[in-house]
Amino acid sequence: MTAVATRSRELEAVRRDAADCRRCDLYRHATQTVFGEGRPDAPLMLVGEQPGDVEDEEGRPFVGPAGLLLREILTEIGVDERRLYVTNAVKHFKWKPKGARRIHDKPNWTEIRACDHWLRLELAHVRPKLVVCLGATATQALLGREARVTALRGRVVDVPELEEPVLVTIHPSAVLRAGDRRHEMRAQLVSDLAIARDALRAPDALRH
Ligand code: URA
Repeated sequence: MTAVATRSRELEAVRRDAADCRRCDLYRHATQTVFGEGRPDAPLMLVGEQPGDVEDEEGRPFVGPAGLLLREILTEIGVDERRLYVTNAVKHFKWKPKGARRIHDKPNWTEIRACDHWLRLELAHVRPKLVVCLGATATQALLGREARVTALRGRVVDVPELEEPVLVTIHPSAVLRAGDRRHEMRAQLVSDLAIARDALRAPDALRH
């Protein structure tokens, strides 16, 4: 069996384990665990916050409105989807009711820590060359509770206790919610993701 096939099998085993996750209470009100998706040997791992309403139903990360914007931008800047592994810091949809709708509710630190187990396993198996944190939750999950997107945005940083260098940027949902600033925020996300693309094209700039 090739190294990639082995990694793929191991990752599948982790995915199966995660399907029964009870590490925190979020599973109680979510439809299913939404595990990461993509190449098991992807050079670029994108980490979002948590699945949204659409992702919860479909069981796949970033297939709702934020995912559409993200994929649109990646296509625009020439990042091939086949080079990606896409996942979330938290694997269950956290929501609160608003009328008949389910509204996103931000995961708390305990929930982020509980789910860290799965994110670390994904990192250990995929071993990407670069990790992109999309928004505050992913940034805190990988860089610590005090880490702030505003302070770290748009550059590749080394993180203690993490093999892979990390680039922090805003979440595509923040662009969708930005109102008058939507154009400006989109441009920020585009330029940060272009930095990630360029870092991968010049692998000497990365540690491995
Ligand atoms: N937002 C996220 O952070 N992740 C998803 O999968 C969808 C929306």
